[in-house]
Amino acid sequence: MKAIELENLLKEMSLEEKVMQLVQVPGSVYAKDSATTGILQETVPEKVRRLAGSTLGIMDGGKIRDIQDEYMKHHPHHIPLLFMLDVIHGHKTVFPCPLGQGATFDPDLTEQAAAIQAEEAAADGVHVTFSPMADLVRDARWGRVMESTGEDPLLNGRMAAAMVRGYQGPDLKDGRHVASCVKHFAAYGAAEGGRDYNNTELSEHTLRDSYLPAYQEAIQAGARMVMSSFNSWNGIPVTGSEWLMKKILREEMGFEGVTISDWDAIGQLIPHGYAEDLEDAARKAMRAGVDIDMTTGAYAGYLEKLVREGRLPESELDKAVLRILTLKNDLGLFENPCRGLTEHLPVHTPEEKHALARKAAAESLVLLKNEDGVLPLKAKKLAFIGPYAMSRDLHSTWAINPDRAQGVSVWDAAQEMLPEAGVEVRAAQGCDMVEDGTGLSFFVYHDADQREKNQKWMAEALEAAAWADTAVLCLGEHLLQSGESTSRAKLTLPPCQLELLRRVKEVCGKVIVLLFCGRPLEVAQMADHASALVVCWRPGTEGGHGILDVLTGKVPPSGCLPMSFPHTVGQEPLHYDEYATGRPRPSEGNDMFTSRYLDCANSALFPFGFGLSYGKAEISPVELSGSELREGEHLTARAFLTNHGDEKAAHTVQLYIQDLVGSRVRPVRQLRDFRRVLLEPGETREIAFRIEEPMLRFWRADQTYGSEPGRFRVWISLNSRDGDPVEFRLC
Ligand code: NOJ
Repeated sequence: MKAIELENLLKEMSLEEKVMQLVQVPGSVYAKDSATTGILQETVPEKVRRLAGSTLGIMDGGKIRDIQDEYMKHHPHHIPLLFMLDVIHGHKTVFPCPLGQGATFDPDLTEQAAAIQAEEAAADGVHVTFSPMADLVRDARWGRVMESTGEDPLLNGRMAAAMVRGYQGPDLKDGRHVASCVKHFAAYGAAEGGRDYNNTELSEHTLRDSYLPAYQEAIQAGARMVMSSFNSWNGIPVTGSEWLMKKILREEMGFEGVTISDWDAIGQLIPHGYAEDLEDAARKAMRAGVDIDMTTGAYAGYLEKLVREGRLPESELDKAVLRILTLKNDLGLFENPCRGLTEHLPVHTPEEKHALARKAAAESLVLLKNEDGVLPLKAKKLAFIGPYAMSRDLHSTWAINPDRAQGVSVWDAAQEMLPEAGVEVRAAQGCDMVEDGTGLSFFVYHDADQREKNQKWMAEALEAAAWADTAVLCLGEHLLQSGESTSRAKLTLPPCQLELLRRVKEVCGKVIVLLFCGRPLEVAQMADHASALVVCWRPGTEGGHGILDVLTGKVPPSGCLPMSFPHTVGQEPLHYDEYATGRPRPSEGNDMFTSRYLDCANSALFPFGFGLSYGKAEISPVELSGSELREGEHLTARAFLTNHGDEKAAHTVQLYIQDLVGSRVRPVRQLRDFRRVLLEPGETREIAFRIEEPMLRFWRADQTYGSEPGRFRVWISLNSRDGDPVEFRLC
């Protein structure tokens, strides 16, 4: 349809019909087994069921077709129903969780993975995915860090934009892509105390400099929808904030697409103490600029009344409806309400999808320690021990409907790949994944004879470990310990897993720990006991293969931490790009009366950007093409990276800059660019970055955005802590 036809359609619609376009009902209204991510409201009236503009959580293509066919029969203007779903890191084929994808520092790979997710979801009748989550995260206690690509605004922005490009493709109508909904606007990741759904107190300059850029990148990449977040920001719930949803999002960021509340977020304006009742909540959310009400019934119940009583302008409503009709039209729904389900489109073959998932899993692994070159594997007798050794649950709670039969465990891959290389392998469970006290008692049931079972598992594990030259301990968080509503006040593994590590170490000299997790954990004890430590995140369908590829050296490890790993939870929130203080802790000497902890280092145990390779990499001091930068010109910063080892080495070379003096206090360093490099043994490569004035801009003390002349420091390094800087001056 042409734009003018959409406008004519809008004119023909009754007020009730228009209101219903702004109403989203849970999928359970149409299909009982749909995914729900919040408390369900009581039953929805038949009128709403027949006219609601969108629904969410239905995963089955056959059901979507039946629902759409039935819906179209009754809709007065034959406007199709829009189907949305959380396709976060995989629909059928599951890729590493977003935090793992952040660790790849490889936006191209993420874009390709998103295209496959879109293709699979579209073929199941899905039109919109609630992804990317572009929230910046700095607090590992927050379970949703797993859904973010980490603590850095630049990395987050590149990853979010890559996801949007991958999901939406060049043409939304082609039936192989889905519209992307960026979330959770804004600053949802800054929940106080790392407690999910909690409020956010954040200065405007931190919001603008650190939290908003990734949403902005996603919008610039063309994201068609934005989701408003649950949290309040500086006292105003975002879903009722005109300043955020209109001034920042629409006016400043230029967003023209559809906005939607998070699940029940409009209703939550009441417990927030920001709205009197549902009617008041509907009025406030609509005025703030939230186009679609996800599941509360506030819009369905009150918008018509509010317009008729003159308390909301109908023109506001019309604009929102037109945006939704435009999205439906751009998705090709008016031509084919069952788009994706009816076309037989060229698709990636299963082999291609699995190959990419395997590559992504391998690239997401971060090698934190490798003593005496225990990796790549040299052992001839290997025991794979621990609750994750044989587990195929390597996806996450946000892979809602994965093709479970395709999942590859570490043990599956070990059996497939190692015996042919002359390696003997054994496996043992060792212990349970969780113990009591994890807060998971709703979901995780222990047998009455658990104690006995654990003793038996431990005995088998110790026997296998004593037999082996090297034990590969597969430890980690339970699947349900990260994701939505999984905040933790402790960042440790359960005692049973740590005891397993200690006891295996007593009988087997060489221990490699593979750590499966959705967040940074306290890993000091693991790093002390193990010869090698590899963070595997939640690696997805092909996790086992990707891991064995790296362990055997078939693929060089290349992942870098997208979030700082703390010494202890007491350091959280922890991020490398902190503001400079007036009393910085000196690197040596007396540090009394400086900004520090009495009982812990300030910095991370393993900092942002850190990750080892098998080769011995060395980076030369950074050189600058000049000492002054003028507007419109650029400087080149270069360094040489050499692989002194005997194995291929893959590294992400990182460019950091610090603004030394500003009208506001500036971060001690900020990532400004990065590049992945693969080096042959003995190879040296020159890495050059351009430095331009726009990279130096920030929200200044006079409330404008721009750079300020003065001195800057530059590092080229392999993580956010190392390296010696050089200086230049912005004139
Ligand atoms: C709640 C979550 O916060 C959000 O991320 C998700 O997209 C919606 N529910 C819909 O499932």
